[in-house]
Amino acid sequence: MARKQKKPFIPLFLISFIFVLLQSHSVSNAADEETFQALNRKFSLNGILVSQESEKYAVIFDAGSTGSRVHVFRFDKNMDLLRIGNDFEFFNSTKPGLSAYADDPKAAALSLKPLLVQGQAVVPEDLRPHTPIKLGATAGLRMLKNGAADRILEAVRDLFNNESSLEYEAEWVSILDGSQEGSYMWIAMNYMLGKIGKPYSQTIATLDLGGGSVQMTYAISEENAAKAPIPNEGEAYVHEKYLLGKKYYLYAHSYLYYGQLAARAEIFKVTRNSSNPCILDGYDGFYTYGGVVYKASPPRSGSSFKKCREVTLKALKVKAPCNYDKCTFNGTWSGGGGAGQKNVYAASFFFDIAKESGIISADKDVYSGRARPIDYRDAASVACKTKYEDVKSVFPNIYDEDLPYLCMDLVYEYSLLVDGLGLDPYKKITLVNKINYKNTLMGAAWPLGSAIEAVSSLTNWRMFQ
Ligand SMILES: *[C@@H]1O[C@H](CO)[C@@H](O)[C@H](O)[C@H]1NC(C)=O
Ligand SMILES: *[C@@H]1O[C@H](CO)[C@@H](O)[C@H](O)[C@H]1NC(C)=O
Ligand SMILES: *[C@@H]1O[C@H](CO)[C@@H](O)[C@H](O)[C@H]1NC(C)=O
Ligand SMILES: *[C@@H]1O[C@H](CO)[C@@H](O)[C@H](O)[C@H]1NC(C)=O
Repeated sequence: MARKQKKPFIPLFLISFIFVLLQSHSVSNAADEETFQALNRKFSLNGILVSQESEKYAVIFDAGSTGSRVHVFRFDKNMDLLRIGNDFEFFNSTKPGLSAYADDPKAAALSLKPLLVQGQAVVPEDLRPHTPIKLGATAGLRMLKNGAADRILEAVRDLFNNESSLEYEAEWVSILDGSQEGSYMWIAMNYMLGKIGKPYSQTIATLDLGGGSVQMTYAISEENAAKAPIPNEGEAYVHEKYLLGKKYYLYAHSYLYYGQLAARAEIFKVTRNSSNPCILDGYDGFYTYGGVVYKASPPRSGSSFKKCREVTLKALKVKAPCNYDKCTFNGTWSGGGGAGQKNVYAASFFFDIAKESGIISADKDVYSGRARPIDYRDAASVACKTKYEDVKSVFPNIYDEDLPYLCMDLVYEYSLLVDGLGLDPYKKITLVNKINYKNTLMGAAWPLGSAIEAVSSLTNWRMFQ
């Protein structure tokens, strides 16, 4: 949760003063750009005036289902990342995850202690009281029953209280839902691309296709944010974020059951455990997801792009009733589209399958590429015509366990992009695995986004005190 800003008279006056100065110097349409940069500069300038701190740290715990990780980030006064050793973060991890200690909350918390000690040691002592420490728990903890997750989080709060001198609030130890994860991912990616602080029309939209769920996040206008339906249950559609002195309305939605591996199960469910036209001709086996077994074999006529599309569109529920002005699929509010969705960056399985199937270069040092949704369709129509015994020679870079599902996966990704999320089939999108940040390749993950929000809203808060 972002803290509420207090805005007394003097800082506002300063901001307006600099606005006026700038306006009088720049008359071109570059004015907007310069104003925002100036705001950032001013923001850090003010930081110098208010305190002597030239760097800021944030300690973020990612409590995942398979393990816990600590990330320590270090920012300079302009909110650029500084190195800690050779990398732009300090990182360490431990196994198993918190959810493995369901019956012993204290042991769960103590499993984090070595990471806490190491993470805290990275932060200079005098900065510790101003260094936020946060923990976000994802999938594993979400699934624990009967209050076990709450008891674990409470024990973690005790640990942070007992053992750390970092700045900490009870609500900073929490379970992240899919849309919060998506919005932190958006922050991380836009930050690494230098977009944070710019008007929302210059930010990028992020699509993250995981195994279990798929997330879409993009910045929307205040007008569209005001139209957001209030979910009576489930996750909020819009997250308000203050980042580097600028306010964004992020539309974020996580579609559970529509990640790549989960979607296979949804597609099998449509054909009711009999033959499925998305399975390559000549394959006869089973697909297991979430402990459920589905028969995986094609009809006698073999796999078919056209029939696979029909089944996939049913699984996507593109015809589900829409109670809002505009929906994506399965009755989900679309966010209204707009300028924040113009540039799309798609990650995880979107990238992997594009690289493995030759939609983008398969060279091992390729970490991003550009493609259009229609390219997934073209690859799908080849895959769906290929027999299982030949598929390895036509698509040599696909992992063996994914080969029977190649037609299915490519048809799914094409349909998800175009029929589900409403992208133009000919629109160029960026497929991304790593981003080049100051000549270092970095993966975008939510902890960086959480750190940026924590540090930049703390700064705001202190600046306006
Ligand atoms: C990570 O933690 C382990 C176990 O506590 C420790 O041995 C190792 O040195 C740590 N790594 C770093 C980079 O601090
Ligand atoms: C924190 O300290 C309290 C009081 O000393 C103790 O009861 C509790 O077990 C401690 N918890 C952890 C996780 O260290
Ligand atoms: C599908 O059929 C197989 C046997 O062909 C069976 O073992 C499996 O449990 C069935 N799955 C579902 C979801 O009905
Ligand atoms: C689709 O939406 C419904 C209603 O919100 C939800 O219960 C369901 O889990 C969603 N996903 C699938 C795959 O049906």
